[in-house]
Amino acid sequence: MNRISILIIPCFVLSLAPLASTAADTSSNVPAVNSPKVEKPAINTICPVTGKPADPKITVIYEDRTYAFADEASRTKWNADRANSLYQKLGGKAAMNAAIDLFYVKVLADDRINGFFEDINMNKQRRKQNEFLSAAFGGPLPWTGKNLREAHENIPGLSEVHFNAVAEHLQKTLEELKIKKELIDQVMAIAASTKDQVLNHKPSVK
Ligand code: HEM
Repeated sequence: MNRISILIIPCFVLSLAPLASTAADTSSNVPAVNSPKVEKPAINTICPVTGKPADPKITVIYEDRTYAFADEASRTKWNADRANSLYQKLGGKAAMNAAIDLFYVKVLADDRINGFFEDINMNKQRRKQNEFLSAAFGGPLPWTGKNLREAHENIPGLSEVHFNAVAEHLQKTLEELKIKKELIDQVMAIAASTKDQVLNHKPSVK
């Protein structure tokens, strides 16, 4: 099983139950025009490390989101995994947002590949690519979208030339954002590892 396949296996499920309304939301007769509701993500009920029920008292706040764990050892391991992750070394969420925005400016300006994105909702595409790459780089949330073979198998004419153009834009993006070469090399190795899936090839025999 390659590195990406391992990474995209869902690790834990965030509870989708909405947070309970506050008393102020329900008791006031005044329309809430000046107090828009801010949706907070629910805290996970399953420990992302062990898969066991999470204890809501054993938590970590990471990038404005609270993660709960089954026990202290899981929390310690999760913190260490984050600290050692390529995602965090690249600069976390802020760096990913900046990189994805710049990357798609380059992709959409490139006549070799921009035709593939003509009918695509680019806000959704930016969000999904961000979620996928964040997970692949060891970010805190698992990738829960399609596997890359499925996502690309119905795109007619997709070839190595296009894959290489996308990889080139990813590399240039990171260089422009002044990411260290050593980290760029790691990103590019992960990107290269997706090639067989994106191009719907059988895995290369080494
Ligand atoms: C490093 C290589 C690549 C990665 C990591 C990647 C990643 C992704 C991801 C995560 C999605 C969304 C999947 C979902 O809907 O759940 C996606 C969709 C898509 N990708 Fe890629 N991709 C790569 C290469 C390419 C290339 C080379 C092209 C074309 C030049 C391309 C064109 C598209 C298009 C058009 C979609 C939208 C498909 C649809 O919504 O029907 N991708 N890709």
